[in-house]
Amino acid sequence: MLTTKYPANLKQEEIIAWVKQTAEFCQPNEIYWCDGSEEEYNQMCQKLVDKGTFIKLNEQKRPNSYACFSDPSDVARVEDKTFICSLRKEDAGPTNNWVAPKQMKATLQGLFNGCMKGRTLYVIPFSMGPVGSPLSRIGIEITDSEYVVVNMKIMTRMGSKIWDVLGTTGDFVKCLHTVGAPLQEGQQDVKWPCNPTVKYIVHFPEERSIISYGSGYGGNALLGKKCLALRIASSMGREEGWLAEHMLILGAKSPQGEKTYIAAAFPSACGKTNFAMLIPPQEMGDWEITTVGDDIAWIHPDEKGDLYAINPESGYFGVAPGTNFKTNPNAMATIAKNTIFTNVGITPDGDVWWEGMSKEVPEGLIDWTGKLYDPQSGKPAAHANARFTTPASQCPSIDSEWENPKGVMISAFIFGGRRSTTIPLVYQAFNWNFGVYLASTMGSEMTAAAFGEIGKVRRDPFAMLPFCGYHVADYFNHWLQFGRNLQRPPRIFGVNWFRKSADGKFLWNGFGDNMRVLKWVIDRIKGRASAWESAIGWMPLYEDIDWNGYEFSKEDFEKINNIDNEAWKTELLAHEELFEKMYDKLPKEYIAMRELLLSGLWRSPEKLGLAGEVG
Ligand code: GTP
Ligand code: SPV
Ligand code: MN
Repeated sequence: MLTTKYPANLKQEEIIAWVKQTAEFCQPNEIYWCDGSEEEYNQMCQKLVDKGTFIKLNEQKRPNSYACFSDPSDVARVEDKTFICSLRKEDAGPTNNWVAPKQMKATLQGLFNGCMKGRTLYVIPFSMGPVGSPLSRIGIEITDSEYVVVNMKIMTRMGSKIWDVLGTTGDFVKCLHTVGAPLQEGQQDVKWPCNPTVKYIVHFPEERSIISYGSGYGGNALLGKKCLALRIASSMGREEGWLAEHMLILGAKSPQGEKTYIAAAFPSACGKTNFAMLIPPQEMGDWEITTVGDDIAWIHPDEKGDLYAINPESGYFGVAPGTNFKTNPNAMATIAKNTIFTNVGITPDGDVWWEGMSKEVPEGLIDWTGKLYDPQSGKPAAHANARFTTPASQCPSIDSEWENPKGVMISAFIFGGRRSTTIPLVYQAFNWNFGVYLASTMGSEMTAAAFGEIGKVRRDPFAMLPFCGYHVADYFNHWLQFGRNLQRPPRIFGVNWFRKSADGKFLWNGFGDNMRVLKWVIDRIKGRASAWESAIGWMPLYEDIDWNGYEFSKEDFEKINNIDNEAWKTELLAHEELFEKMYDKLPKEYIAMRELLLSGLWRSPEKLGLAGEVG
């Protein structure tokens, strides 16, 4: 029988009983209650160095930072092993994997019996959202991974103070995690323990609990992030009247000093971190972008019918490849110290490197598989889903209100996927309902952030396909209903930074130049910018965009913002594939909206407002 000293300010018997029971069943060597202190973080990192998991980076180049390589079987979220185990299958809906809770628990019991042998069981109390904010939610993660402990320290508000918040009656989400790699007596541990063949990421929305088996990576293991803050929180939000979204939140200050907050949903590895930290082109004047969050937004209506958003996280788990001083200087500054790098390359002088960081590949690089890198191999040195874990407080563009317990007022929503064809650079939905339709039918070419067929277009409604904790058609209805209750519903826009020419080149610079699109968006919501009425929404004319400092011709603009009627007919008809999956619950508005959009595509191009129909 394991004995353990409970934190003095822990006042809930239920938690003690849960930890005790779990320990008896999982059979760890030890139980450790995390206090969230710096000393604890440093000790834990040292333990990871001693085990060979962490490599301490050069203290001069990258102070207090570490790199590690995961097992090759454990590099991204496992969507095919992710389950929403609601009591009824209908409540999980057609886009989630489902198994009856009883049956899933039986499977998990088999796997968890003795799963922590030879390891320490860590108890991590954490808050998603500023500690004590009425909008925040508490979770407790039990894990046998030190990697999880140190990542949770960066990504959440973690430690002893959470016991005070919980008091004697506070609610919390039970999160149970194991790498699924018990050690036999005397067995040597591997650098990245995980279960290479069996993985389960399981959610019980009615119980508000999470059980994760077999993976140590990112969203599979840091259970506050996708599991709690999106899947469980979306289900809470539905019941309680709020929204948990896969969205960045940014503040934009105009040269006149006017501040506007915007939330934007792009699928995984499609540019949220970059957009949230954007540095506007100097030629556009004194614009300033500030960062509230880069991945998740919790959005509540206030008494006046305005929407307020908080970022439930306190760090960034960002995509490394492609990040450099040009594409994202703020991210580069953020990761200058106190950062954990996973699956990047390591230089001989103890710093990190990844594809896109610089033109030349450093010599003597160790790649993410731990071997000397051969640039001739045709393989990348860093895994395409290599990531950094870094404190949000270190971001130079952090917004002054990012920890405001009330959140920031949202004036617009932007939705955008990765689409090489069809979808224009920017358009504004006619109204809330058409905006919800736009977001629901968003498509994106798949990336390395999850296992799947890279490059294939899939419908990713609201960028929430892998993250919605309940029936996706109920989720659409929740959004429609939300709009009905708002005084001034935020305007909704679609964007696409990824349109390509016939020879496969990006037509748009992206990154800082996305400010040009953002400026039009802001001017639209303030009623300052004109637009023409296309078949799919309001669109800028060439003259409506600020081109100062970017040579982009009218012809280029025509290429990137044009609506190809035939391509759009195909696009709209492809929505049917999504709709037929949820025929029984699809909002009735959707069929009508699709017909209205289709009907607009039969107008002749001369009448398409290019002559200057403005509004
Ligand atoms: P998750 O953390 O997975 O949810 O993703 P994210 O949306 O935060 O992705 P991130 O901002 O890290 O973007 C990842 C990839 O998108 C990188 O390869 C970037 O180089 C690329 N990217 C971001 N913004 C742009 C852009 O404006 N244009 C182009 N072409 N690529 C971009
Ligand atoms: C995503 O895939 O959208 C991420 C990374 O933000 S992970 O936390 O691993 O899900
Ligand atoms: Mn994400």
